[in-house]
Amino acid sequence: MSTKKMLERVLSARRTAQVGEEGDEDDESKTRKQVLLAMRATNHLTRTGYLLPCLVLGLVVIVVSSLIIHSRDLVCISSPSAFDPVSRMRFFGFDSLESHFGSLGVPWCRPKHGKTVEWTNKDLLKGLEEFVPIYETRPIKNNMYGMGFDHSFGLWYIARWLKPDLMIESGAFKGHSTWVLRQAMPDKPIVSLTPRHPEKYLKKGPAYVDGNCTYFAGKEFVDFGSVNWGSVMKKHGVTDLSRVLIFFDDHQNELKRLKQALKAGFKHLVFEDNYDTGTGDHYSFRQICDQFYIRGGGHSCFKDSDEARIRSRRKKFWDKAVDIEELCGPGEAWWGVKGQMRDDFNHSNKAITYTQHFQNSRFVESVLDVYWELPPVAGPSLTHQTRYDPARVSSPIVEDGRFGLFQRLGLSRLETSVFNGYTQMVHIQISKPES
Ligand SMILES: C[S@@+](CC[C@H](N)C(=O)[O-])C[C@H]1O[C@@H](n2cnc3c(N)ncnc32)[C@H](O)[C@@H]1O
Repeated sequence: MSTKKMLERVLSARRTAQVGEEGDEDDESKTRKQVLLAMRATNHLTRTGYLLPCLVLGLVVIVVSSLIIHSRDLVCISSPSAFDPVSRMRFFGFDSLESHFGSLGVPWCRPKHGKTVEWTNKDLLKGLEEFVPIYETRPIKNNMYGMGFDHSFGLWYIARWLKPDLMIESGAFKGHSTWVLRQAMPDKPIVSLTPRHPEKYLKKGPAYVDGNCTYFAGKEFVDFGSVNWGSVMKKHGVTDLSRVLIFFDDHQNELKRLKQALKAGFKHLVFEDNYDTGTGDHYSFRQICDQFYIRGGGHSCFKDSDEARIRSRRKKFWDKAVDIEELCGPGEAWWGVKGQMRDDFNHSNKAITYTQHFQNSRFVESVLDVYWELPPVAGPSLTHQTRYDPARVSSPIVEDGRFGLFQRLGLSRLETSVFNGYTQMVHIQISKPES
């Protein structure tokens, strides 16, 4: 095949790969110009007889520079600079970075009939374009211990897509998530359950208190599992419970919350902290569905395994990655967190057997209609996040290498810290088990 033909093939392959993606015209036309320039240069060199010497010179340059880069990577592994994002990117290699998404596997909960959500990645990209300017107007700029950008976007997106008649949140802190729900549905009522009223935070700094929200807070606080939902629905004129969206960010055992929501007849739920196995302060769906029969699920505490080696290597680079020692508890129990089913900010941490853990996943699957984990909004080379391990999450909405798109969406205007709180927020739809 002639050099010209090869270049043309590269050009058309790139075009095909980018068809249908939002906002790629700039990247594509730049690539096209570069390839055309390369084609012209090749034609000129062929005519003048300089092609072969130039190719040999190019090859030498590539070999020498890759040797230099490789030797730097070896230094990065053992040096403290391994913890900075640039070294991290260099270590993993840009091209291979993408393959790290999901390489350890991403366990998920199987819905009863294999249904999934209606929205696509293209819809999410459109949503991001709209949401970034909204997020920039948030009243609480520093929401440490609350939601960052990824989950704020996810919650806003889900609420806007589902258009519920009533939104319920459990765990409001200073009120950032209440504000996010309000941006999604400006005229719909909210019910907020939270031990400390967000207005209390106003004395110390920014907080958000909503005018169309019924607060069960302070002396009026009632836990989600003890609310008389029949009477609350009546008060809000809600007769169809599938028109209600519930958002949990209260760090309670998600199996417990699922059973309570099911009993009350709710269908659409969002859980903010869907912690990965071995991490977090409450039993989550991600943990429950981490089972041997799911890809990336089920673990071994054997210290000399491939998984143990991969985990210890990744732990050097990602703050929240866990190695085998952290993953496993007494009796080689890896499920939940070291074999514990944690609840209520880890104030309770009951040890459960593997059989109980397995039965929990079967129960969850028997009531699940939809399970959708929000992907991270963008790859780590773009956001410079350093916490979650990309090997345990699904492909980001804006993949690494798409800086043009990242910038066009306005994401480059946000501070790095807002991308650090991603914990696989999940949207689920449920119905009573079929008998
Ligand atoms: C991580 S914060 C919530 C952050 C908030 N959603 C945001 O995005 O900024 C957890 C909140 O849950 C509250 N909480 C604790 N126990 C709770 C319970 N049983 N029900 C509801 N909220 C609870 C805490 O007081 C705290 O305000």
